Amino acid sequence: MGSLFVRGGIPLHGTVSIQGSKNAVLPMMAAAILHSGTTILKNCPRISDVLFMTEILKSLGAKIDWEGHTMRIDCASLHSWKIPSIYGVQMRSTTMLLGSLIGRMGKCEMPYPGGCMIGKRPIDLHIDGLKALNVQTEERTCAIRAETKALTGGSYCFRGKSVGATENMIMAAVFAKGCTILSGCSIEPEIVWLCRFLVNMGAKIRGIGTGNLQIEGVRELKDSEFSVPSDRIVAGAYLLAGAITRGTVILEDAPVEEMGSILSAYKKMGGQYEHSSGKLVTNSGKICSPLLFIETEVYPGLPTDLQSQLMAVLATIPGNSRIRENVFEDRFKVVADLNKMGCSIAVRNRDAYIHGVSVLHGAEVTARELRGGAALVLAALAAEGNSCIQNYHYIERGYEDISRDLALLGGVCRRGDGDPEENNEIQE
Ligand code: EPU
Repeated sequence: MGSLFVRGGIPLHGTVSIQGSKNAVLPMMAAAILHSGTTILKNCPRISDVLFMTEILKSLGAKIDWEGHTMRIDCASLHSWKIPSIYGVQMRSTTMLLGSLIGRMGKCEMPYPGGCMIGKRPIDLHIDGLKALNVQTEERTCAIRAETKALTGGSYCFRGKSVGATENMIMAAVFAKGCTILSGCSIEPEIVWLCRFLVNMGAKIRGIGTGNLQIEGVRELKDSEFSVPSDRIVAGAYLLAGAITRGTVILEDAPVEEMGSILSAYKKMGGQYEHSSGKLVTNSGKICSPLLFIETEVYPGLPTDLQSQLMAVLATIPGNSRIRENVFEDRFKVVADLNKMGCSIAVRNRDAYIHGVSVLHGAEVTARELRGGAALVLAALAAEGNSCIQNYHYIERGYEDISRDLALLGGVCRRGDGDPEENNEIQE
């Protein structure tokens, strides 16, 4: 499973550039199968979720090649509409192939994604929406089957916000006959990027960036090339790595226009920043203000994917803070491990009550999901002494090489094979 050793207590200083976005590239890869030709994606992060998605696409008949960070996806000879059941357990994002497989093949069978470490994550909105496009679905014990005789444009209003369901409906509507009108759509930046990507392939989408989308069905798409945007969550996490160590961190290619909520929280804590010539220059030397109350929300609110990392920072600011998690019902699993490092955090329902302390100490802790894992890395950077974070594979799902990036900022971390005894080596 692997681990990450971190020697803490060193303020981070330096420059790091931000990798391509996980949550933007995954739906783009799914959308690539709509086209029976070639799609080139530049700036692809080489993270395990992306590598995993390549395996799924290959199992459906796609040919995929890499050159550096450029991925070439050739879906000319896609032959299957069934996602093998082993992939359902390994990756939840199989759900995002529902819309594109329906669009390309007229049917799809995928393993039921089930619950995960951050909440139940039902897919009722995906299924409900597809009905409006003349798609019939059947839920079996372990798989979902969807089929259409003729994909037909229709109107659908989402009764709850869902990034994935919005993405699936957009992908399914690209080839639907006539016009599809979607309202109540999520407006996360990754949805905007997916729409731009599809328009670049020849899709007709209006209302991009709003909650109301109109998609005019087209008969075919064309070969295209697109650059994956920078990852706003990785950028936020590295901003917070600077904050927790009270360092000065420069982020190159950070998507600042998508980071309003986290930059506002950073400023309220006492962080200073300026943005010029593509660089976000930050100074966390004066961070000292707790946040009385802050809550995760859909975009443009505070992203749930940064909640744990922000919680780690607040745990080092003397005074009381409170974070409410509104998006996923079970996203405080990291609290027990943060407390093991000296944090003082209590969870009641959807709220985490954080009593900031002045010193954290290194410990052996365990990542239980990607973002919580990143929060443990942050806490380890600030803690006195050495830490060992087990279950590194969760962190690899979203970070190409977190130890390489943190080393560029002066952090001391090293990959290990999971044996905490190895930790001694990092003391030298
Ligand atoms: N929901 C339903 N029914 C549905 C779909 C969603 O009740 O049919 C609920 C979920 O259970 C959740 C809420 O709606 O409570 C929001 O879920 P959403 O569908 O928006 O999330 P998602 O599409 O499954 C994506 C990201 C997540 C990110 C969320 C919220 C990808 C691959 N995943 O998930 O990213 O947290 O949007 O912004 O894009 C991560 O990167 O660590 C991660 C979990």
